[in-house]
Amino acid sequence: MKQTVFKALVAAAALLVLSVAGSNLMTSRSALAAESPNPLSGNKDAIKAGQTIYRANCGLCHGMRANGRGRGLPNSADLRKYKRGYSKYVYTVKNGGKTMPPFGGMKALDDTEIDQVGAYLETLAIRGAKWADPAEGGGTEGAAADPAARDPAAEAATALPEYQAHLDHIMVSWGDTPGKVGLATILEQEAEIAGQHAGFAASDLEDMDNIILHTAHVRHAIDPTTEAAGPGKNYGVAKAAAEIVAHMDMARQTADATDSVKTHAEHVISSANNITAWSKKIVGLGDQIRGGTSPISAAFYAEEIVAYIQWILNGNDADGDGTVSWTKGEGGLAQIRAHVGYIE
Ligand code: HEC
Repeated sequence: MKQTVFKALVAAAALLVLSVAGSNLMTSRSALAAESPNPLSGNKDAIKAGQTIYRANCGLCHGMRANGRGRGLPNSADLRKYKRGYSKYVYTVKNGGKTMPPFGGMKALDDTEIDQVGAYLETLAIRGAKWADPAEGGGTEGAAADPAARDPAAEAATALPEYQAHLDHIMVSWGDTPGKVGLATILEQEAEIAGQHAGFAASDLEDMDNIILHTAHVRHAIDPTTEAAGPGKNYGVAKAAAEIVAHMDMARQTADATDSVKTHAEHVISSANNITAWSKKIVGLGDQIRGGTSPISAAFYAEEIVAYIQWILNGNDADGDGTVSWTKGEGGLAQIRAHVGYIE
């Protein structure tokens, strides 16, 4: 209640300033953010976090400047002019669009992350944008769909750099993966399957045959060349990691690779190499489980496998400094996504 009154006051004040300051862009941006029901609107830390998440997950399609000029799917929206209101935004990100992939399932962004991306996008809003939900009766209608609000710099055609295609193979789509998903996506899908079956193995303290079966399923998802049958997608975490190294290496060797590409390529490759090493450990632990007879020690190894799979997905703070970097033994899939996103 108080909150609503406060927001209304802020909006009224901002509109007053707007009418005085005319087309001052900064003022119109803060006015737009103040209207949004996003709990993280205007929160500096959230905006920063949102930018990182945006670059890693959205930029390839919607463009690093959110102007709809990415390389992923055609007709990705210009999110600076987003005007369907906050609830619709959350819904779209979670469930996907006609062709946009959903971020609510396997490739999950949690509610906070979606709000963080929203807070970041609100800072990019140009006139015509509307983040207030229609039911909340936003005060920005007057500014909606103003054709004069187009940003001429963003309208200029941008020639796409050659390295971008390789980045897209990692983040958007690659021809030899099931469903032609990106290499990061198949890596995540296989790791999730492996994690699920490692969990079964770790919690099954009774039946050795069952533990061995679950472990075989883990190996199938990690590297189907070590185990032909299983619930995985027949691609494997190990192959996805090796392909990411190969594509990132191609990206940094293109003629137009910038310093930013070269720097972050090293970080992505280092993280993918960690995933390769952890995948080998998992396959080795599988051998130990198979060669053993005690369900207790098998479950113990299975727990180690569970831990390695977490590292594959999220990286590991090996030096205990409170952050996970891209260095040897630390970076995993999350760091790969982040560093591809940092490339500009
Ligand atoms: C693989 C490409 C792709 C990725 C990645 C992607 N989008 Fe989209 N997005 C699209 C396309 C294409 C559309 C428009 C058509 C549709 O609905 O599919 C769209 C539409 C949207 C819309 C609706 C726009 C409108 O005006 O109604 C929002 C909001 C949006 N995307 C946000 C995001 C966010 C936030 C992310 C990252 C978490 C993201 N998208 C990632 C392709 C993508």
